[in-house]
Amino acid sequence: MNQYTGPAVDERTVRAAIDLASRAPSVHNSQPWRWVVGPRSVHLYADLRRWLPATDADGRDMALSCGAVLHHLRVALSAAGLAAEVHRLPNPDEGDHLAAVTLRAAKGTGAVAEADLGLAIAISERRTDRRRYGSWDVPSAFVDEMVARAAEQGAVLRVVSDGYSRRVLLGAIRDAARIQESDPRYRAETAAWTGMAVDGLGVPPRNLLRDPVGTGGDTARRFTPGTLDQGPGPDGEGAGDGALLLVLGTASDDTLSQLRAGEAASAVMLHATRLGLATCPLSQPLEVGETRIVVRDRVLGGTLSPQLVLRVGWAPGGKPLPATPRRAVDDTIERMPR
Ligand SMILES: Cc1cc2nc3c(=O)[nH]c(=O)nc-3n(C[C@H](O)[C@H](O)[C@H](O)COP(=O)(O)O)c2cc1C
Repeated sequence: MNQYTGPAVDERTVRAAIDLASRAPSVHNSQPWRWVVGPRSVHLYADLRRWLPATDADGRDMALSCGAVLHHLRVALSAAGLAAEVHRLPNPDEGDHLAAVTLRAAKGTGAVAEADLGLAIAISERRTDRRRYGSWDVPSAFVDEMVARAAEQGAVLRVVSDGYSRRVLLGAIRDAARIQESDPRYRAETAAWTGMAVDGLGVPPRNLLRDPVGTGGDTARRFTPGTLDQGPGPDGEGAGDGALLLVLGTASDDTLSQLRAGEAASAVMLHATRLGLATCPLSQPLEVGETRIVVRDRVLGGTLSPQLVLRVGWAPGGKPLPATPRRAVDDTIERMPR
């Protein structure tokens, strides 16, 4: 690990960056991460008390959520003028120690890249939007940019464009929902995490659809019903979904790949937000072993490990969606013993 011993960085700046990073998406808004902060470093740990075993038996969603917060942190630090060097999984004996980030003040803080500032703004604007999207195509130039953002983080973003792959993916989502909903442990876990938010954890009713059925052929996970109304849909008659479906994949399927896939998901969603697009992660078909294999073999051609499905498209007009709550940032931070 880097033994950098330069000047300590400003503690308040680091806390503010962690606070902004905590806006990262996470499965059921579980925020399964904690931080240990030293004078020149920030360490990211998975918070195993916030793992959802009935939904996420493999821990994939937990690793992806931690990858998303790591990428959010990198953006927030860079926008605050701090240079960060990231060592992923720095200690083979500590599986929950996901990243060690060495910090130093960047030379010439006036030169914070405009792109980083734009992404930092997108952190506050991004929402998981579970409604139907409109019918306008996502321009191919935008798709190319999202594919490039994923590649920069070491992941592959595949567009599910042909009718066959789209049908297979939608079928896998429906099958996964049926299998999960037949498990009482899954039903109890979903009820405990959604439809209310306690101490800044979980998804409140205002972010959940009153009627999830009908979002893109049942792509929406059935949560506890909320108070959010569907958009009119692409034909303006309350049906269908104009969302583009994308699958993020990686060459391997270990914790490092899942962490990197989370970073890529964050990079893609923040970039999409900058482009004015709505996004919604869909992890259900990858939480069930048999539907995950279907996505791997019949949607990705057996060449990649699927990590996350994303819906991307044009949100219905009207007021922006409200933000989901977050835990108090100080409850997530420990100071490194001196
Ligand atoms: C790994 C992962 C899996 C997710 N899976 C789903 C999902 O299957 N369905 C869904 O509606 N939202 C899903 N989400 C979105 C979260 O519910 C959402 O990020 C969280 O409630 C916080 O809300 P926000 O994204 O609007 O800030 C997922 C997010 C992550 C990071």
